Amino acid sequence: MTDALESSPPLDLPLDAHALRADFPVLARTVHDRPLVYLDNAATTQKPQVVLDALDRYYGEYNSNVHRGVHRLSQEATEAFEAARITVQRFLGAAASHEIVFTRGTTESVNLVANAWGRANVGAGDEILVTEMEHHSNIVPWQMLCEAVGATLKVLPMDDRGELRMERLDDLLTERTRLVAVVHVSNALGTWNPVETIIGRAHAVGALVLVDGAQSIPHLPVDVQRLDADFYALSGHKAYGPMGIGVLYGKAAVLDAMPPWQGGGDMIRMVTFEKTTYGELPCKFEAGTPDVAGAIGLAAAFDYVEGIGRGRIAAHEADLLEYGTRVLGEIPEVRFIGTADRKAAVLSLLFEGVHPHDVGTILDREGVAVRTGHHCAYPVMQHFGIPATTRASLALYNTREDLDALVRALTRVREVFA
Ligand code: ALA
Repeated sequence: MTDALESSPPLDLPLDAHALRADFPVLARTVHDRPLVYLDNAATTQKPQVVLDALDRYYGEYNSNVHRGVHRLSQEATEAFEAARITVQRFLGAAASHEIVFTRGTTESVNLVANAWGRANVGAGDEILVTEMEHHSNIVPWQMLCEAVGATLKVLPMDDRGELRMERLDDLLTERTRLVAVVHVSNALGTWNPVETIIGRAHAVGALVLVDGAQSIPHLPVDVQRLDADFYALSGHKAYGPMGIGVLYGKAAVLDAMPPWQGGGDMIRMVTFEKTTYGELPCKFEAGTPDVAGAIGLAAAFDYVEGIGRGRIAAHEADLLEYGTRVLGEIPEVRFIGTADRKAAVLSLLFEGVHPHDVGTILDREGVAVRTGHHCAYPVMQHFGIPATTRASLALYNTREDLDALVRALTRVREVFA
């Protein structure tokens, strides 16, 4: 356990989601004259007042650019920005704050690794291994890299429950595998993958591992050192933080050996027309003015989550997942897509005879917000031979009553299409 996890409230004190809802102003609104039931948390979570206040304070009291100013506001902004980096370091269990690179989100983090690390370390005949359940953002950057350097993209398949076929892993890992890119929790299925095992086996053949943590960070305690991940990517907005801020964690030795990706201000040591030398970590990877407010807001979100306790959030969501699976499973027309043994709180489903977009539209009229579509995971849809699913994804402020509202709204779908 990290210090932060040890200081979380004890697990046996259940989280009071009804009380916590008051921290999220948007949850009080109505949609089509009905109370909002927000079940689209895998797309983005709502923001607690402490995050809104942190953004407001930054822009209202000390808005300034960081690192380059000698004036008071710039110093205050720099201190808050770097304090946010330390908060993220502790939240992820990283060894040092310079292993935390602020990005725009998971997508940019993956692209950074594919371009900076990939171009320097992957060549013709090398292999990158992804899984069948990756989000497009953890497929396309690797495809682009492979096309550019003549490498091969290989795929670890999954079974019909949405579990990785781990018995295939050792065959797919070869001495040519340079990197394994794997999602920790699938956005389309909810599957919680055994990344510890994958990392261990990848390291045994000398490959690095990038974990897409976009959907795990809001749900599970994550410790990058314990996982021994080489890279860990996440988005702030899926974990109660602002949009437009994300993180790339990388082991210091790996980041140090990487060339920069984007060039610009703040990432250099010295520039002349003959030669530029680059700055130290993490500035080497943060060209240009960063999203200072976003980083400060993200730190406020992580402090908020830590104050509740990630173990308690996981326990609460596990209860909701079990309850939701039961009550939705009692609806005859419902078929779940993604029935792995180990899942985070994502309920992806088909409603027999009704296209997911129609399901979503009717649910919206009932005030229930869900996601419908391919969830940026076409290969998952192709595996199941379907165009789309209706996905309810849960967060710490959801309750059993929200799931009851979803069941009632699905009954309305049946009435409309009867
Ligand atoms: N990737 C996000 C989702 O799963 C947008 O909804």
